Amino acid sequence: MQNDPAGAEIQINKPTPIKSSTAFTSFVRGTDIQEMIDRLLQGGNVLIEEFYSNGLELLSELQTYLRRKHPGQGFQEQRAYRSEYRKLSSLVLIEIKDHQLAVKKAPSIGWLEKLYPESNDFLLTFPEVQGLNSAWQWYLNGVVVPVLRNKIHPYYGVYFPTRFEHLQLFDNWLKRYDGPKKSAIDVGIGSGILSLQLMKHGFQKSFGTDLNPNAIVGLQESMKGTKLAMKIELDYGHLFGKWIKPTELIVFNPPWLPASHDLGRLDEAIYYNEGLFPEFFQEAKKRLLPDGRVVLLFSNLGQITNVAKENPIEKELADGARFELDRFFKKSVKQASSKTRRNQHWRDTEEVELWVLKHKD
Ligand SMILES: C[S@@+](CC[C@H](N)C(=O)[O-])C[C@H]1O[C@@H](n2cnc3c(N)ncnc32)[C@H](O)[C@@H]1O
Repeated sequence: MQNDPAGAEIQINKPTPIKSSTAFTSFVRGTDIQEMIDRLLQGGNVLIEEFYSNGLELLSELQTYLRRKHPGQGFQEQRAYRSEYRKLSSLVLIEIKDHQLAVKKAPSIGWLEKLYPESNDFLLTFPEVQGLNSAWQWYLNGVVVPVLRNKIHPYYGVYFPTRFEHLQLFDNWLKRYDGPKKSAIDVGIGSGILSLQLMKHGFQKSFGTDLNPNAIVGLQESMKGTKLAMKIELDYGHLFGKWIKPTELIVFNPPWLPASHDLGRLDEAIYYNEGLFPEFFQEAKKRLLPDGRVVLLFSNLGQITNVAKENPIEKELADGARFELDRFFKKSVKQASSKTRRNQHWRDTEEVELWVLKHKD
């Protein structure tokens, strides 16, 4: 638990610890793997012991088994495969003792201490530990973002970009922006990239929000004791959170795809509910200074994959009541490598977009 800037407690999202007294069958080297898979199929837990690689081996055998069971390449069958893998692999457990995995040759995962400071002995599922491990590598090594001078170190459970064309569009726009640079609101600040771009281009202050608690806690931690802590203020909340004072710039890199299911925390970086954009524009209208600009980063991904009927920003402009278009830029997205391109022809037409809106006269 950590405090938000106003002193209230923020509960970080993390895998839920499982009691170490949970019943399980042990898996060590030489254990009959088919027997273990049968155990999982009956709904029993299997605890990985001795070596970390035992867990990797069991999950790999489980995948082979399930691929044989669901051999079809069709959408439904692949979905059935993934859903059964998710269910069965979550029965494979591993013990954490004194903030370390209690097996030999295991990766050292700093999140175990940071996220569970008070828990000394508990279990997590093996896939959760794999997720924590890869997130720790990103955090430790950092991600180079071409438009920023320094790497970002994404906190556990926080969205960070892996392609950068949209950030390039924003950077190009900021280079030419000659309006006032006193303050901006960064809605859905995530790992902080847009605010860092604002600082790079001379903005004095940014007010960020996010409804993902990990984004707020992660940024608080990374800015602690640096000059940025004074320049980027944070609020854990929906859309504009507590920021009500109008600013000259509002930036939002929203989720790019309409939701067709209930959303988990990371999903909220990718999928939007029907009401999100109308509410954003309604609230942005109140918080934008008369000569200010709203900047949205978006993509045609929803439309070219046919999951979106319309572009929610175009819809707002067509409704015509609140905002009008000031500038629009787009950039095609680098094609994915040939390996991942199978069945992804839509990628050829993928474009990211930068929408700059101003108050309607
Ligand atoms: C696509 S990510 C962009 C993150 C960051 N601004 C960037 O450009 O890398 C969208 C972010 O908005 C946040 N978000 C989604 N819906 C939100 C809402 N209603 N209020 C506040 N933040 C929201 C998500 O948690 C996520 O961090």
